[in-house]
Amino acid sequence: MEILITGGCGYIGSHAVVEFINDGHKVTVIDNFCNCSRSVQKRIQKITKRYFKVYECDLRDIYVLDNIFSCEKFDAVIHFAGLKSISESYDDPLGYYDNNILGTLNLLKIMKKYRVKNFIFSSSASVYGFNLNPPFKESMQVTIPVHPYGKTKFMIEQISFDIKDINSCILRYFNPVGAHQSGIIGENPKGVPNNLMPIIVSASSGRIKELTVFGNDYDTPDGTCIRDYIHVVDLAKGHLKALDYLVFNEGCHVFNLGTGKGTSVLELIKTFEKVNNLKVRYKIGKRREGDLPVCFASCEKANKILGWKADLGLSDMCSSSWNWEVNMKNFEG
Ligand code: NAD
Ligand code: UD1
Repeated sequence: MEILITGGCGYIGSHAVVEFINDGHKVTVIDNFCNCSRSVQKRIQKITKRYFKVYECDLRDIYVLDNIFSCEKFDAVIHFAGLKSISESYDDPLGYYDNNILGTLNLLKIMKKYRVKNFIFSSSASVYGFNLNPPFKESMQVTIPVHPYGKTKFMIEQISFDIKDINSCILRYFNPVGAHQSGIIGENPKGVPNNLMPIIVSASSGRIKELTVFGNDYDTPDGTCIRDYIHVVDLAKGHLKALDYLVFNEGCHVFNLGTGKGTSVLELIKTFEKVNNLKVRYKIGKRREGDLPVCFASCEKANKILGWKADLGLSDMCSSSWNWEVNMKNFEG
């Protein structure tokens, strides 16, 4: 199929581009490079040994978007492009609504105009909120997240439910970590990372002095928060399965992409140390406001309906993250 991948030079998008190309699809990417490096295209081509087109375009520019769709013919759109920092979204809510909501509305309007029927959207576990008990199931009633970032995900989910001429899969990601085994692509955001794995890596390489564990007084076995970490390559493969399903099933479908297994902050740190034979400098600090104590997925629906399950474990997540850190300096920008 001919697939448009928005945000295809970003962290998850770049891994998805590799999987879609390797699966024989013709891929085209749109990215405005606001949170990725321009060298990603070449690096993906190095992995796949195949050329693909990248359009530098901001999804908020509907005229450029229209022009791209008039030159290409897409069967499906995988929509990763968006801003994703919770803290930044508190500082700049308008910027987040503008980028994430307007960008998505433009994309859907143009898809409708050019009769592109299949839409896969990157949503987040943050829509499950505080009132539910894990494992989180797709059938549970979601709540409006407190932060503007999460609200944009919630709103786009609602928009996807309402539109009738486009079939969609809403994929709720849990905690994507790790990198491609080649060490050629991985997570490389501009600015300071605020997710746990990149911070563990930074504390090991000396880029930051130490990691602060946000609270060890939760009602969990070791007192630290529990999350469902999923290898980014498994996550990327989930999109292939979602597309296979979507082309034969009309409507709007929701799937969790996680492992179904909870891991605490201290467990992740210890696994990282063991697998990479490294020391992670850390201290115990106060709880971070807004953190859920325990968050993990029920993956039954994706297992049964998509025939998808995560294969890679915590060790692969930790070793590939470090391998990427070691290799990253070989790639400019
Ligand atoms: P990322 O920042 O690495 O990738 C997003 C890409 O989109 C970047 O390359 C950026 O340059 C591009 N982009 C942003 N706004 C754009 C716009 N208006 N026009 C064109 N390009 C634009 O982020 P990621 O971690 O790869 O996340 C991908 C998607 O998955 C995002 O929508 C994010 O909200 C969602 N998600 C991520 C996580 C996570 O933990 N990484 C968890 C849940 C959901
Ligand atoms: C993140 C995202 C959220 C997304 C979710 C699932 C942020 C702030 N939140 O939340 O939007 O929906 O993943 O993909 O980006 N921790 C520390 N010290 C640190 C950093 C984190 O102890 O310096 C702990 C946190 O308290 C948490 C765990 O590590 O318990 C994971 O944190 P993080 O990587 O930010 O992920 P989430 O909180 O799940």
